[in-house]
Amino acid sequence: MSTPLIEFKGVKTGYGQMEVLHGIDLHVDQGEIVTLIGSNGAGKTTTLMTLSGVNKVWEGEIWYEGACLNGVPPHEIVARGICHVPEGRQIFRDLTVEENLRLGAYLRSDQAAIQKDLEHSFDMFPILRERSFQLGGTLSGGEQQMLAIARGLMGKPKVLLLDEPSLGLAPLIVADIFETVKRVNKEEDVTVVLVEQNANLALKTANRGYVLETGTITLSDDADKLANNPKVREAYLGG
Ligand SMILES: Nc1ncnc2c1ncn2[C@@H]1O[C@H](COP(=O)(O)OP(=O)(O)OP(=O)(O)O)[C@@H](O)[C@H]1O
Ligand SMILES: [Mg+2]
Repeated sequence: MSTPLIEFKGVKTGYGQMEVLHGIDLHVDQGEIVTLIGSNGAGKTTTLMTLSGVNKVWEGEIWYEGACLNGVPPHEIVARGICHVPEGRQIFRDLTVEENLRLGAYLRSDQAAIQKDLEHSFDMFPILRERSFQLGGTLSGGEQQMLAIARGLMGKPKVLLLDEPSLGLAPLIVADIFETVKRVNKEEDVTVVLVEQNANLALKTANRGYVLETGTITLSDDADKLANNPKVREAYLGG
């Protein structure tokens, strides 16, 4: 068995005095789409924030590409190829679509390649080409989500962390976004960690999944097996 790309070993973290993750173990292999499902407040966002170095590990270890990430600052984690597309998107509302995309490449200096990747994002998300001069803040929710993902990809990440990409979007747009995520994963070999409350869609998109309940992982399996697991069906898939 090869070493996983990402590994959490007994990771604990929290806020102030309150422990939120109670020692979680999980791994993500190179090339996978792994989803983390769970109810509001389970600790999904906290897990991603800890992986991206924003939250400190209290106990346990996070490993990535054979190195321990504990104590590595967030900007260094980005530079090593882990890109976090946060909950709520956080695009720059007063910058145009193209400016937002260019900012995604801020760590790069290869201008010709950046231009090529910009064209490539427009091919992946044609709506963004149409809107390239429009201000980010005036895009629809679905367009903003596409922009957030496309901007993340402009940094040429090895791993994309997606936090609730479906939030507040119509089902058709969500399906479209998830198809694009699958394409990016396959065609560009980007490993994806997908946090979702929409368990149905997440399990259709991912290879494997973990169920997080109040800071503890209670189940992990192939996505199709989780989708057929009676407990998951009852709790997260509406029976
Ligand atoms: N900055 C913070 N300060 C204090 N407590 C926090 C902070 N962020 C999150 N929490 C708490 O940590 C717990 C886990 O929150 P988290 O955001 O990780 O959940 P989640 O699974 O992403 O939920 P949701 O599906 O609602 O996004 C919650 O009880 C939340 O109130
Ligand atoms: Mg969250």
